[in-house]
Amino acid sequence: MCPIRLNAFIPDFLDKRLLFVTGKGGVGKTTVAMALGIRAAMEGKRTIVCEVASTENASRLFAQSEVGFREVELANDLWAISINPDEAMREYVLLQLKVKAMRDLLFRSRMFTYLAAATPGLSELVTIGKIWELAQLDRKVKHGRKYDLVIVDAPATGHGISFLQTPRTFAAIARVGPVHNQAKEMEQMITDHEQTGSVIVSLPEEMPVNETARLEGELRDDIGISVDHVIMNALYPETFSPADIKKIEKLGKSEDPELRAASRAAVSLATRTAAQHEQLARLREMISADISTLPFIFKPELDLKSARQLAEEVA
Ligand SMILES: Nc1ncnc2c1ncn2[C@@H]1O[C@H](COP(=O)(O)OP(=O)(O)OP(=O)(O)O)[C@@H](O)[C@H]1O
Ligand SMILES: [Mg+2]
Repeated sequence: MCPIRLNAFIPDFLDKRLLFVTGKGGVGKTTVAMALGIRAAMEGKRTIVCEVASTENASRLFAQSEVGFREVELANDLWAISINPDEAMREYVLLQLKVKAMRDLLFRSRMFTYLAAATPGLSELVTIGKIWELAQLDRKVKHGRKYDLVIVDAPATGHGISFLQTPRTFAAIARVGPVHNQAKEMEQMITDHEQTGSVIVSLPEEMPVNETARLEGELRDDIGISVDHVIMNALYPETFSPADIKKIEKLGKSEDPELRAASRAAVSLATRTAAQHEQLARLREMISADISTLPFIFKPELDLKSARQLAEEVA
C-alpha cells in the first residue's frame, strides 16, 4: 500500500498510543479496528492492530495466511497480531524467569494450563499484559518494534467491560509483589486519558443504540477509560428526498407490475433509512462522545478496498 497522506482532518483519537475498539457482538468492531489501522498507517503512524478473540478476520481482509502470535506487516506502517493467552503467558514467563530450570519446569509440567484454568481472569490479564507490552517504547521482547499506535479489537461487550477491568481486579487481589505492580501499571495506562482511549462501534438500531449509551457510562465510570468517539456503522445513504418518495409511492399504483415492485423496494429502503436516521438522532441525545458515521457497504463480503473506503471516511 502506498503511504498516501490524506489532507482530511485526522481524528484526535488516532493520536493516542493505545486505542480499544469496543461494542456489542457483530456491530463491526473488527472491520472498524482495521479501517482505523489503515487510516492511521495512511497518516504515517506505525500502527499495530491486535485481535484478541483469535478470529483472524484482519488477516482474511488482507488475504494473508493466519497472523498468529507474531507481529506481521500487512501494509506500509501497518502490522497485526492475534493474541493467544497461552503464548502471551509463555512469553511473559520467559521474560520474567531468569532461571532456565524453572522455566522448563513450568512448561513441561503444563503448570500454566492448570493455573489458567484455576484462576479466572488470568488469560485476560496476560492478554492485556501483551497489549501493554506492545504499547511500550522500551520493549523487552527481542526485536520488538516501537509502535506509535496500538489498536485493540476488543472482545464484544459483556466480556468487554470485564476484560478491561482485569488489571484493577488483579492489582487488588495481589496486594504486593510483581503481579500487583504490573497489574497496577497496566491499569494506570488504561486510565491515562492522554495515552489511552476507546472508540465504541454501534449500529443504527434500537438495541445497539441502547447498549452504546450504557457502555459509554460503564467505560467512563467503572473502568475510568476515556471514551473518545462513537462510530455509527453501516448507515444507509439517504438516497431519496421526501419529494422523490411521494413520486415513487405514486408509481406503486402503476399498471406495470415491474414498476410496482420497484416502487415497493424503493419505499421499503427509504423507510429503513429513515428509521436508521432516527436511531442516529437518538444516539446523539443519549451520549456525550462525538459521533461519526460509516456507510453500509453493499457487497456480499467486505474486502480490502471496502476497508480502505471506510478508512477514508472515518471521522
Ligand atoms: N460498514 C459495513 N458495511 C457492510 N458490512 C459491514 C460493515 N461493517 C461490518 N460489516 C460486516 O458485518 C459483519 C460483522 O462485522 P465484524 O466482524 O467487523 O463485527 P464484530 O463486531 O467484530 O463482530 P464480533 O463481535 O463477532 O467479533 C461482517 O460480515 C462485516 O463484513
Ligand atoms: Mg470481531
